[in-house]
Amino acid sequence: MHAIVLWVSVILVLILSAIFLSVIRSSTGSASAESVGKTANTIRLLSFWGALVFGAALLYITLRPWPHALPPSDDAITVTVIGSQWSFEVDTETVPTGKPIVFALTSTDVNHGVGLYDENYVLLNQAQSMPGYTNRFEYTFDKPGTYRLLCLEYCGLGHHEMAGELTVTSSTASAELGRK
Ligand code: CUA
Repeated sequence: MHAIVLWVSVILVLILSAIFLSVIRSSTGSASAESVGKTANTIRLLSFWGALVFGAALLYITLRPWPHALPPSDDAITVTVIGSQWSFEVDTETVPTGKPIVFALTSTDVNHGVGLYDENYVLLNQAQSMPGYTNRFEYTFDKPGTYRLLCLEYCGLGHHEMAGELTVTSSTASAELGRK
């Protein structure tokens, strides 16, 4: 990932440098004030509308999968997570794979961040838990295992100890458990 970012930056810097060089080169010639004014106006208008359309398209593409704006699925299971200095109270111990899980987050004292991590500590989703509010995010597990909830916002001396756990079982195993 870092290598990609580095190369994108290098390429963008090279493109910008090329634009600057071409501007410096073209600025040494002479042209009539009228023709320059027309060309400049055309370029200005094109750049303006181009940037506007490009910006709007970029916004739409990048903001569309906004996780918090999605309505919860009908068959979703809600897991309530209450943060307090310095622990998370999770009302459900086990959830199945393949079912959308809505994490409903709130706090009894200060703002906490709730990050959902897999067994390799890869961050899967996150939102803030805030006193007086219930924030939600939805996640569907595809692998069974032990998942962790870690606090992502410094909330006092015990911040680093603030963790919760959630066991995810394969949906077939949970169905069998339900039948017994
Ligand atoms: Cu709760 Cu940091």
